[in-house]
Amino acid sequence: MDHFLYRSGTLHAEDVALSDIARVVGTPFYCYSTATLTRHYQLFTEALSPMPHLVCFAIKSLSNVAVLKTLGQLGAGMDVVSAGEYLRAKAAGVPGDRIVFSGVGKTREEMRLALEGGIRQFNVESEPEMRALSEVATAMGTRAPIAIRVNPDVDARTHEKIATGKSENKFGIPIARASAVYAEAARLPGLEVMGIDVHIGSQLTELEPFEQAYLKVADLTRRLRAEGHDIRRLDLGGGLGIPYSRSNEAPPLPTDYGALIKRTVGDLGCEIEIEPGRLIAGNSGVLVSRVIYVKNGEDRDFLILDAAMNDLVRPSMYGAHHDIVAVEEPAPGAEPRPYDVVGPVCETGDTFAKGRALPDLAENDLVAFRSAGAYGAVMASEYNTRPLVPEVLVHGDHYAVIRARPTFDEIVSRDTIPEWL
Ligand code: LLP
Repeated sequence: MDHFLYRSGTLHAEDVALSDIARVVGTPFYCYSTATLTRHYQLFTEALSPMPHLVCFAIKSLSNVAVLKTLGQLGAGMDVVSAGEYLRAKAAGVPGDRIVFSGVGKTREEMRLALEGGIRQFNVESEPEMRALSEVATAMGTRAPIAIRVNPDVDARTHEKIATGKSENKFGIPIARASAVYAEAARLPGLEVMGIDVHIGSQLTELEPFEQAYLKVADLTRRLRAEGHDIRRLDLGGGLGIPYSRSNEAPPLPTDYGALIKRTVGDLGCEIEIEPGRLIAGNSGVLVSRVIYVKNGEDRDFLILDAAMNDLVRPSMYGAHHDIVAVEEPAPGAEPRPYDVVGPVCETGDTFAKGRALPDLAENDLVAFRSAGAYGAVMASEYNTRPLVPEVLVHGDHYAVIRARPTFDEIVSRDTIPEWL
């Protein structure tokens, strides 16, 4: 459920008409709903109660500091994968003991930064990383809390670019080698082993791969405990998928996911962490764009928008589907017609949808891409020197620009000219 609904014929974010925001902010822009973000976060906390748990929002999916602050104030933890994300979490006021640091290539500088600023745990992904972290922590006179990410060799049955739990993927240590790696971790002076971490992929639309992975983690917990390790935390990653198309998709709900977690690892007495990104942010955001032209091609009509692949790359990059709707509600009974929906960027790949059935649209009409809150703004670029798309946060009947559109002066003046020119 989200809070983007038609009211008096216009699509609203909560109590604000998207057309009103467009008039002030210009298009394209991302718009997020506080109520939807809050509700999705709470679905997870409810699903995991009464187990001790922390829901760590995967910042990579939507990293605006205002959004992080919204979630942080509800008690959310954060999953970060870079110094920049760590600093965003801190800027949002999230304390270090609610931040987990994931990622296969943490540098020593990043490790130092997090140890200085406070960290709940590093999710360590390899032996070299483990040794580096131990050295950094020892030099700072401290011990780094860690979970070791295991690769359970499970097929997440999702898009190949976002599957992470198969043995051929770069993530984690093979679960078969876990005993040896945990034994080494326990010997390293700068580490304190807290638990096990696993994340098998993103946009999972079935529970079964999670079940396979979590059962393996449960077995491993028992084995490692028998080997003398105090496994007290399980970080079960993110990945629960969302319906991108309202018409025909019904992925499992957080309640089902929570029940699965209880069933598979609930009897171990561990504190549970999860790292959802998409399920919290995805349907909490839309990308609003304006029609520049309707162009009649030889055998099709092109809807040329002022948003492009640089603003929302998922369709070009993964062939992803986003529902597109008119901001002004079509009259009942109006016949939709097919359009190829494209942006102004000079690449054929700048296509959002082909043959998409939409109501009759004309120049200056507004459309909204649904389910664009996750992996939307964060993956935007300034390709074609198109200003980075702004972000707006709605809260009830008011809204704020939470990242302004840069001016052309700002963009051009970021380049510097060497003295020989
Ligand atoms: N934890 C780790 C270690 C991850 O690598 C990810 C996502 C998450 C949590 C959050 O997963 P989520 O709950 O959002 O599925 N750009 C792609 C998605 C990349 C996901 C990368 N890792 C897309 O637009 O579909």
